[in-house]
Amino acid sequence: ALIVRHRMRSTGRWAKVMAILNEVEEKCATPIAKLRQVADAMTVEMHAGLASEGGSKLKMIISYVDNLPNGDEKGVFYALDLGGTNFRVLRVHLGGKEGRVVKQDVAEVSIPPHLMLGTSHDLFDYIAEELAKFVATEGEDFHLASGRQRELGFTFSFPVRQTSIASGTLIKWTKGFSIEDAVGEDVVAELTKAMERKGLNMRVSALVNDTIGTLAGGRYDDSDVAVAVILGTGTNAAYVERAHAIPKWHGPLPKSEEMVINIEWGNFRSSHLPLTEYDHAMDYESLNPGEQIFEKIISGMYLGEIVRRVLCRMAEEAALFGDTIPEKLRTPFILRTPEMSAMHHDQSSDLRNVGNKLKDILGISNTSLKTRKVIVELCNIVSTRGARLAAAGVIGILKKLGRDTVGEGEKQKTVIAMDGGLFENYHIFRQCLYDTIKEMLGEGVSDSVRIVHFNDGSGVGAALLASSHSHYLQVNEQ
Ligand code: GLC
Repeated sequence: ALIVRHRMRSTGRWAKVMAILNEVEEKCATPIAKLRQVADAMTVEMHAGLASEGGSKLKMIISYVDNLPNGDEKGVFYALDLGGTNFRVLRVHLGGKEGRVVKQDVAEVSIPPHLMLGTSHDLFDYIAEELAKFVATEGEDFHLASGRQRELGFTFSFPVRQTSIASGTLIKWTKGFSIEDAVGEDVVAELTKAMERKGLNMRVSALVNDTIGTLAGGRYDDSDVAVAVILGTGTNAAYVERAHAIPKWHGPLPKSEEMVINIEWGNFRSSHLPLTEYDHAMDYESLNPGEQIFEKIISGMYLGEIVRRVLCRMAEEAALFGDTIPEKLRTPFILRTPEMSAMHHDQSSDLRNVGNKLKDILGISNTSLKTRKVIVELCNIVSTRGARLAAAGVIGILKKLGRDTVGEGEKQKTVIAMDGGLFENYHIFRQCLYDTIKEMLGEGVSDSVRIVHFNDGSGVGAALLASSHSHYLQVNEQ
């Protein structure tokens, strides 16, 4: 009788687990019709954001980049890339048309978590100090013409209201950063002051978002690059717009008649987005409730956390991990997207990698194969939604550019430069993104649109933009 009762209990338990799983699957569904609505809404919001300041959830930030690299860039330039959990410093030797990138040195430093929530002074002091250490490694082959200052391209991957190519005020933090006293400040001035405090003689020549850096780096390699997308800790996109098509731009018409726009699509939101109770709860408890909703269902900072929240509910309401709820499972953000990805990619027949991860990260041992399968399926549901929505966003941009269809005899190629840890490392996510873009474009068009991974393009891109906005005339390079 005991065994029977136990079996009944476990059947009821499984029914409940499957009911929760099915409900999540239903709520996360992204049929093509829905994706088309999302893409259309993205196009509409892009128009609205270009029309007037504050006209849309999409900030459509004018980057002041109206000239993308063409290969002539020459000299040694520094770049600083801040925007995720790590920051990178680069020294890039540009050799002009023949030389291209002659040499490149890079150092990557992780940001102590307390600095992400501290003061502007402390964060920028830390960065300037690490930058100074890196500058100290200049080799004997490095020399500046007398009286010249080192120049830096600063990739700062947060929403910034640009006031020129080399200045801009922080609108708000995203992605787990929250440093109140920096909001509204000019981040270039903050960095410059910190560099002065550290005795580092360097000038910021360009302030760019990572999407803009990636677009510039991409364009340097391939002149068909017109869009850049970042899928990493956060997510965002930038593209080349016709200056005439930006009603809110009152400045002079650039010679190129083009202007690069940082969409800040992470803040996109629409009634068409498939949101679940888990997303709402995560948003409510986040550092920036109500903001960055698109980012919160797509990007690397959040995917693992969504999975954790569903698992928590399965543990509480359906005893997925037995009668007690594993303590660690209650810790927000303990399940990171790289670990989720590792579980999702487990090819072994007994899903032993899933088992190991559950043990290592959450302290849950002896999970059954059935339990592990549920977890893999959950990873699949959450990552599929993210990848398909990102694809819809890309289609929205292509629509805005009129490049989602090809006219008779037209041969225009569009290259989309992509980068970011999520895109780079989560292969199933990336494949799903590719497949969905192809599916939405349809035969014929999908041949004229190419996605290229530009690894670390944003750092080199920032150095390239520092070069084209150098204080010193290029002639002095001779
Ligand atoms: C966040 C930032 C945005 C950045 C993106 C990718 O969405 O707000 O500026 O481009 O993350 O790093």
